[in-house]
Amino acid sequence: MELEQEQQQFSMPRIGDKAPEFKAVTTQGDINFPSDFEGEWTILFSHPADFTPVCTSEFMTFAHLEEKFNNANCKLVGLSIDGLYSHIAWLRTIKEKIKFNGMKDIEVKFPLIEDISMEVAKKYGMIQPGESKTQAVRAVFFIDPKSIVRAIIYYPLSLGRNFDEIYRALIAMQASDKFNVATPADWYPGDDVIISPAGSCGVAEERMTNTDDLKCEDWFFCTKKLDKDTVLKEILKK
Ligand code: BEZ
Repeated sequence: MELEQEQQQFSMPRIGDKAPEFKAVTTQGDINFPSDFEGEWTILFSHPADFTPVCTSEFMTFAHLEEKFNNANCKLVGLSIDGLYSHIAWLRTIKEKIKFNGMKDIEVKFPLIEDISMEVAKKYGMIQPGESKTQAVRAVFFIDPKSIVRAIIYYPLSLGRNFDEIYRALIAMQASDKFNVATPADWYPGDDVIISPAGSCGVAEERMTNTDDLKCEDWFFCTKKLDKDTVLKEILKK
């Protein structure tokens, strides 16, 4: 039984899996996940605990950026192993008292899941016992409109997340889907994108002689221009 419990704690969805289903109570009412969020991207993220400073800085940042994420067709959903009333009290305190990085009077409008039973945290591998047996690590799950897990980032308890990277990854994955390309290291909209590698000797040859819109370093490494406005027009709502 102990082993089964340990395995449950360590189990986590992988990239390409359907997002595990759950029903939960949140600060914005009950949710059925992921079905309530189908048709848009969702970022499901965990934090260790309410009323802790790093988490507070992250929540303020996420709330401040919520509209920007929504404009990129993405909803935010938070989780910690705390109860609903703790969540409500913490969010009220944030709005009433806390200033951080020039932000103040910040209202968290996205749902924050209560997960006292750790049911959801265990399903998503958010409990990493070597780090903490009682608090979730800082996990970020990117879930696409068809409820498929597309990317996962984990941070330890002491490290606040980089929100530029979270937004960049969201836009890059959407650009890959829309334009059938891959994005190289440190890509931002407007940078060149990578086209899929040649799958035959003929295509490899063509790539090396192509003088049109491709720039090939070698047969397996070809990029092309993708205009920033074209990317953003396709992805952003306004
Ligand atoms: C924090 O959010 O400040 C925090 C939470 C758990 C452990 C360390 C820091």
